[in-house]
Amino acid sequence: MIARKLRNIETFTKLLFGYSEIAPKQRELLYLNGSTQVICAGRRFGKTNYVAGKIFYYATIHPKSRVIVGGPSLDQAKIYYDLLTEAIELSPLKGFVKKTKDSPFPTIYLKNGSSITVRSTAHNGKYLRGRKVNLVVLTEAAFIKDSVYEQVITPMKLDTGAPVILESTPNGMNYFYEEYQRGLKNKKHTISFHATVYDNPFLDQEEIENAKAKTPDYVWRQEYLAEFVDDDTVFFPWKILVEAFEDYKPEGYKDGRKYSIGVDLAKYRDYTVIIVLDVTEEPFKIAEFHRFNQIPYEEVIRIVNDLQAKYRAQVYLDATGVGDPISERINACVPFVFSQKSKSELLHNLLLNFEQQKLQLPASNTILRDELRFFRRIQSGSGFKLEAQEGYHDDCVMALALAVWGQTRRQEAFSTQLDIL
Ligand SMILES: Nc1ncnc2c1ncn2[C@@H]1O[C@H](COP(=O)(O)OP(=O)(O)OP(=O)(O)O)[C@@H](O)[C@H]1O
Ligand SMILES: [Mg+2]
Repeated sequence: MIARKLRNIETFTKLLFGYSEIAPKQRELLYLNGSTQVICAGRRFGKTNYVAGKIFYYATIHPKSRVIVGGPSLDQAKIYYDLLTEAIELSPLKGFVKKTKDSPFPTIYLKNGSSITVRSTAHNGKYLRGRKVNLVVLTEAAFIKDSVYEQVITPMKLDTGAPVILESTPNGMNYFYEEYQRGLKNKKHTISFHATVYDNPFLDQEEIENAKAKTPDYVWRQEYLAEFVDDDTVFFPWKILVEAFEDYKPEGYKDGRKYSIGVDLAKYRDYTVIIVLDVTEEPFKIAEFHRFNQIPYEEVIRIVNDLQAKYRAQVYLDATGVGDPISERINACVPFVFSQKSKSELLHNLLLNFEQQKLQLPASNTILRDELRFFRRIQSGSGFKLEAQEGYHDDCVMALALAVWGQTRRQEAFSTQLDIL
């Protein structure tokens, strides 16, 4: 019976997820072979499901093997663990599994001595280093630092000969792009695979068309068609942003630390975002993050005042238009009125803080990450407009810029005092 289940990876994956059929491109991914496999595919194609199928199959047919899935944050890598544990529970393949363990590193142990464990690639890959592995998967690979790939994954591969699977949507011209290009040319060791959202016929076609109608063309091409789009209107280049993302959980209030609060208020259909930044020392870190919509202003005022009292921090608030009367009801509020000039200064200050590596953001906050990635500098008449891509929000970007602005102003005031002395 077991032998029949293991006959081929396709049957195995169907049993794992309860699928009755598998589409041609998805099948191609399952059978992909090569010591480096670069899977560049659009959102919703089936990246996670089929790579998860591949690794569970690998661990089952290779006794005593060790598989590691690394992601920019443990939360992102853990998607594999959650998907697999859930699918296994409902599947006839359950018999292959001995036990699962949630912490410290979520791991699935098979009866044949194999294991599948998930880890974060943060802190320069320290959770991956020095491990004996037989198969390495990097999920959201294009969001992992080049240095981790070059200094940790490549030596690991040379050491152990373990195949490496890179799985991602494209994101800039980084190591993932270079490996993908290498795979297109040299088909011997590095194999490149490409698929779009349309290669998954099991999605609701109407839903895809709705998403397409709401998504700017360039974002659509990158995220769903998995094209490497070279766009010179990017305001925060990924090679600068990547340095800011680390895997940490916002820690909330801690005694003896200094904070700055940035608030961007919802205007029409967008969100109110509140970011509490710990500015005790560089790099500044997020202590608390809130994003909500459709909450009456009275309630927003209460939430912001509660945070102000808790953190004893100044509040930098977008006081343009409707924000003006609200700013008067917020304690320790420094109102910030947006004009084209002040907005540009605010955002350039944020960019400078990124360039100088003064900020550290949680890698698992993909909403903040994507708002930054899709923030644009667009030519308008003789000048430039700084704004979110149509169809995207910029509330997180603005709240962060305001919180950072507060800190910069404090430093400027301090250096002016020194000048006077
Ligand atoms: N053969 C199939 N039969 C039925 N549903 C399928 C099949 N293959 C994939 N799907 C469904 O397609 C959806 C997308 O799959 P998956 O989450 O793996 O895609 P992804 O590329 O990782 O997406 P994301 O970009 O959101 O991470 C899932 O709901 C999955 O169950
Ligand atoms: Mg996925």
